[in-house]
Amino acid sequence: MPARTRPGDAVVFHENPPLRLSIVPAATGRADAIVIPLFSDQRADAIDLGGVPAEQRRLILSTLALGDFKGKEGETYAMGAGAMGTGPLAGEVEIRRIFLVGLGKRESLDADVVRWAGARACQYARKRELSRVLIHPGSLAKLNWSDFAADFAEGAILGGFAFKDYQSTSDESDRGDDQNNRPTSAQPKPVKMMRFELIGPADDQSLREKVSRRSAIAQAANYARFIACQPGNVVTPAVMVDLARKLARQCGLKITVLDARAARRLGMGGLCAVGRGSMHPPSLILLEYAPPKTGRGAGRQKTVAVVGKAVTFDTGGISIKPAADMGAMKYDKCGGAAVLGIMRAATTLPLNQRLIGVIPVVENAVDARSCRPGDIVRMYNGKTVEISNTDAEGRLILADALAYTCEKFHPDALIDMATLTGGVVVALGGVYAGLMGNDDQLAADLIAAGQQTGEWLWRLPLHERYKKLLESPHADIQNSGAREAHPIQGGMFLREFLPTGTAWAHLDIAGVAHPKKEHRYWIADTANGFGVRLVTQYLLGNLPK
Ligand code: BES
Ligand code: MN
Ligand code: ZN
Repeated sequence: MPARTRPGDAVVFHENPPLRLSIVPAATGRADAIVIPLFSDQRADAIDLGGVPAEQRRLILSTLALGDFKGKEGETYAMGAGAMGTGPLAGEVEIRRIFLVGLGKRESLDADVVRWAGARACQYARKRELSRVLIHPGSLAKLNWSDFAADFAEGAILGGFAFKDYQSTSDESDRGDDQNNRPTSAQPKPVKMMRFELIGPADDQSLREKVSRRSAIAQAANYARFIACQPGNVVTPAVMVDLARKLARQCGLKITVLDARAARRLGMGGLCAVGRGSMHPPSLILLEYAPPKTGRGAGRQKTVAVVGKAVTFDTGGISIKPAADMGAMKYDKCGGAAVLGIMRAATTLPLNQRLIGVIPVVENAVDARSCRPGDIVRMYNGKTVEISNTDAEGRLILADALAYTCEKFHPDALIDMATLTGGVVVALGGVYAGLMGNDDQLAADLIAAGQQTGEWLWRLPLHERYKKLLESPHADIQNSGAREAHPIQGGMFLREFLPTGTAWAHLDIAGVAHPKKEHRYWIADTANGFGVRLVTQYLLGNLPK
């Protein structure tokens, strides 16, 4: 008898990129390439090429002398490395290619530039299916090793992510669709591991730990990206639930799923109204992580809750979206996918912090049963909402999720992430996410964490005067007002569903979660896992006071 299959079985995450990065004191044998990061403002005779065999060193210096490679940020230059070389880098090492990556001016070097160099190296290696690559620290060797190595590894993993599982390779023939319209062979081709060997202080235990932790967090971000990139016909709400169950099983998380019936019984009018029009009913996913028990019976653990919007596809509903670019609305589950990534990171680290992950998941579809503009629903916290626009669905599902999370878990800090408004894309583009909230300390801590991870946040005001925009003639509030301050309307709306005194931050990630333009180490036209590294960094460094 065939094993019972579940809808989520077709969606399997493997390490992506398949990369192992280690720190080695020296290298011998044969390597496919050596990567050398270089500044743009360094005299040729001052460049640190320590250990690079003499012939290769000559090649590099002549390339620099010709001006063919200037060392600007993100610049790359690849060349054949010529014959076998010997040098102190190794006893004897055969290097087949040299790959130069630019770091820009020495004084403007930051973590983001190093991540970018790592990304370029990994993209280069992955494209050519290289299996062994040496990373020479170049001029970075004199700087802070622990940061350089971790940032480089993180950048390599983020930059090396690819979403190609649905692209046929020549050796695959009969692909078809199953009766649910899902491609039947979403099987990734067999993975070939790439090895990156960073030549440096291999005996530094804390450095190795730092690199492996940062790598794990970056892979958790890529796991979130892998889910976020899945098309709407593959990742339906039921599949999202399945993926959460699988993660819970693998990571030892507690999971509770409130299905559509439970949500209706509990009075979650927002979640139910948005989910009505879809053949795939909505759910509320609740994941709980508890840190491994330590010897000391610590005091009451602080609880942080992260809530992520997961609209598996957003047509807009009856207030339907224009056709152009509607396909990008498969990314409307990026907030929920980020929550899965954060939970994964929490258990692999592991994090010493109680953490709750909450994902309201729906499809916003057009149907005879869909909710209509003008409908009035009662939310979980008892407030009534006039659905003035069915395309402002994210706040409806989040409102119920936030109210329920607060009632059930009483978190000390609550962070929600959502691709909530087109307005934040207009205001901040693909560089900064919008941050709103009611707690200056939490906001400052998140901004600081984002500064470290390169996920930048800009705070928008939730001033009382904006409340007017939520006024409805027939209900307590409406979900969408006039055409002004849309991101803030979203924040003001969500605030209505929090009990007083809960420290809360809302991240509107609509502009940053799947940027159209390539942004350094993130490839264009894939989700980038925004929020996973940011919130994990926040949890590592800044527990609620
Ligand atoms: N998912 C969209 C927001 C969005 C827009 C994300 C563009 C990424 C790119 C959200 O559900 C939405 O449709 N928001 C509307 C709200 C409006 C109708 C009040 C918007 O911002 O246009
Ligand atoms: Mn919408
Ligand atoms: Zn949406």
